[in-house]
Amino acid sequence: METLAETFHRLTAYATDRHWLEPVDDDRVRQDFIPLLPETRPPQSKEYPQHLPRVALPAAAGAPVAAAPLLGGSDVAGTPAGRPPGLADLSVTLARCAGVKSRSPRSGEYYRAAGSAGNRHPYEVYVSARGVGGLTDGVWHYDPRAHALTLIGPPAAGDATTLVVSGVPWRSCWRYSERGYRHVGWDCGGVAAHAVLAASAQGLPARVETAFDDAAVGRLIGARAPEEFPMVLIVLGDGAPAVAGGENTAPGDLGAGAEEFPLVAAVHEAGSLRGAAEVEDWRRGRAGGRPGARAAVRVPDEAGDRTLELLVNGRRTTRRLDGAAVVPQTAARWITDVAAGAMPGDAGTLHEVRLAAHGVAESAPGVYCRASGGLERTASTARDATYRACLNQEPGRDAAAVVFLTPAPGPAIAPDARTYRASLLSAGFALSRVYLAVTALRLACSGLTFVDSELRAAVGAQDALAAIAVGVER
Ligand SMILES: Cc1cc2nc3c(=O)[nH]c(=O)nc-3n(C[C@H](O)[C@H](O)[C@H](O)COP(=O)(O)O)c2cc1C
Repeated sequence: METLAETFHRLTAYATDRHWLEPVDDDRVRQDFIPLLPETRPPQSKEYPQHLPRVALPAAAGAPVAAAPLLGGSDVAGTPAGRPPGLADLSVTLARCAGVKSRSPRSGEYYRAAGSAGNRHPYEVYVSARGVGGLTDGVWHYDPRAHALTLIGPPAAGDATTLVVSGVPWRSCWRYSERGYRHVGWDCGGVAAHAVLAASAQGLPARVETAFDDAAVGRLIGARAPEEFPMVLIVLGDGAPAVAGGENTAPGDLGAGAEEFPLVAAVHEAGSLRGAAEVEDWRRGRAGGRPGARAAVRVPDEAGDRTLELLVNGRRTTRRLDGAAVVPQTAARWITDVAAGAMPGDAGTLHEVRLAAHGVAESAPGVYCRASGGLERTASTARDATYRACLNQEPGRDAAAVVFLTPAPGPAIAPDARTYRASLLSAGFALSRVYLAVTALRLACSGLTFVDSELRAAVGAQDALAAIAVGVER
């Protein structure tokens, strides 16, 4: 029998014969919902009452460390026996993972450190502080516009200061309906990737925990499911994350008019873990999927030695790619290696890479997979097929290569809803690192949604988790 994760994935799949805004004809998918209504557009971030204590974060000047070598994979999670973070480390980490970079002069909406389809950014970031020099222990909400923290709850039990990234599904479902839940996973994974990189560049240990007691962490951050729920933890230190026993946290205000999507609430709830025993069980189940020590990834000289600050500030989505451009094979190989890196932490390897290459030097067009010593061509493919799989979006047609992240072990998505959730995080984590690797290489890219029914023709895959087009700006 089909599991809820499988049902969710099938009912949120795009197909060639149906416009992406048209709902699948199934009563588990909302038939009455009208996406993209200007009058229901959700605000970009959560608000709190003015009277709560606030701390302005210091200017976020990071350590002068080259970022490209940190992109190599899960073997670079930070120093194993690190120091605890100080306020300056937190400032840098928050700015790099969720800070505001600029504002759209047209809409006034802001762009943030990591990408997000439709610029929706369906997440909030909280800090559960434990022994951070210059910051009272407690639960703090990150205000990205002011680059400041608001104290919203008393200290949690646990050892290590922890970032909690929550999902706010209405922000992405407003545009993508139920498929918005996939986006929540991608974007929270992207924030986690940036946070791990920023902490690593500061010389701090950082790991990603995808398994936790959902209700307990939800209480800790004052989230009210199904409007908001914790998605992932980034633990900034050794020992247990400081996420236990939270209570009396101010709930904050996500804005009026949020619509609910029963299928999203159901798939999230199906993946929720209750209590320490369920968390341990899930982790034990994932233990076999842990990546072994990865061979050090060779960083090409073209990646340069710019800091993470420069890469994050320089990162942007580019939709006008040159269809005649050819990228060096060393670049394509490094991007594939970066894309294959797993999240350092409890989830292990949940995705792998298929590269639809059309403009890679010394490489025949085709589908490539990673093999020892480089890339191995496994099938032929045509630009047309890649274009169709990328929803007929121009970057999919003009890219030198499109990176498809497919489920591991595959070929289908994980049937268990918690593993499915972690797979979406894993794909978003990898996609965000590709954005930064592409920036380091001075190439151009765009994250792309995909048409599930076209994956087989494009890259011979049954299912995919995420995709990104890479090339040269036109
Ligand atoms: C997972 C993901 C999927 C995306 N999908 C698309 C897409 O299908 N089409 C598109 O034009 N842009 C897509 N984007 C790019 C976003 O629209 C872009 O990140 C957002 O507008 C913010 O711009 P920035 O990346 O320059 O900060 C995607 C980005 C991400 C992270």
